[in-house]
Amino acid sequence: EKAGFDHFMLKEIYEQPKAYRDTMMGRISADGRSVELKEIGMTPEQIRGIRNVHIVACGTAYHAGMVGKSLIESLARIPVEIDVASEYRYRSPIITPETLVIVVSQSGETADTLAALREAKRCGARVLAITNVVGSSVSREANDVIITQAGPEIAVASTKAYTSQLIAFMLYGLFLADTLGTRDKDWIADVLVAMQKLPEQVESILERAQVLKQVAESLAKHDNLFFIGRGIDFAVAQEGSLKLKEISYIHSEAYPAGELKHGTLALIEEGIPVIALITQEDLYEKTLSNIKEVKARGAHVLGLVNEGTEVEVGKSIDELFAIPRTLPLLSPALSVVPLQLLAYYASLARGNDVDKPRNLAKSVTVE
Ligand code: F6R
Repeated sequence: EKAGFDHFMLKEIYEQPKAYRDTMMGRISADGRSVELKEIGMTPEQIRGIRNVHIVACGTAYHAGMVGKSLIESLARIPVEIDVASEYRYRSPIITPETLVIVVSQSGETADTLAALREAKRCGARVLAITNVVGSSVSREANDVIITQAGPEIAVASTKAYTSQLIAFMLYGLFLADTLGTRDKDWIADVLVAMQKLPEQVESILERAQVLKQVAESLAKHDNLFFIGRGIDFAVAQEGSLKLKEISYIHSEAYPAGELKHGTLALIEEGIPVIALITQEDLYEKTLSNIKEVKARGAHVLGLVNEGTEVEVGKSIDELFAIPRTLPLLSPALSVVPLQLLAYYASLARGNDVDKPRNLAKSVTVE
């Protein structure tokens, strides 16, 4: 049932183009100009009444939520707060009936996420769940549900569920923007065209997996490394770092590139690998200058850049991996894929049990 793949994780990484298509299927209007989310019961009037959004989730789903925050704020101009579920519950969050709480959970059974959902409802907020499992506790208790169509995810390390959550957030952000009139119809149509190209763009990354295997084999010799990025790239950096930690057991940290010099730069020494994400054109120069800072201290830098970006390899960046061009706000759906493959191959190189990493369970139903 691994369909010829050595591990479920690799199979699920390769299922992402299908998961993207399935999650978009039936949710884009026939003329390609708007998002149709028939499962959302909120009226346009109720949507206009949303004052703020809280996104609550754990682990990888939380990282999808970080991208979701950027998308909703930039597309719909509604302020978004985000918390990990185990913190949210105990910090007395200010939830009102005008708050929309979005919980994100692959399994729909994570105890802390479920408790956050119940607390939100108790305070009179409306809850939207983004989940992969029809009939799960989260899906039954939320007011509205967007099912990600990733299909069953078996490997403990989440891959296609995360990327399907990104697609769900993109669709929902566009849906809000259309309803609220914060973006015009032509612009929305252009984003939808770009979204529908994502599956084949992921395929083109998967075709270059062997390059990443080689990079991962050299990363596997290290005990520490860093991921850096700005903006939405930082959100993806966090997911790349978690993926690497949980299955390769290599310690890594994701840092907002501009924050390094406020302390963490002290850890950069000769030979330490730094994986730098630079997909956002408007932040390119700034991130490049942070890369030069780590490079000057001896770091070995792998740069994840957009195809066609002119960077002098050898000078500030040691190795490059290019991702296909898309709109800046869609780039996480592409840039995370090489990071998933790096984690997979690093785990393999270290002889770990890729699908069942030590100490971890697929579904965390205790608090
Ligand atoms: C990491 C991973 C976990 C889960 C987290 C939440 O690869 O899988 O961090 O994302 O336990 O699980 P769900 O999404 O089922 O609520």
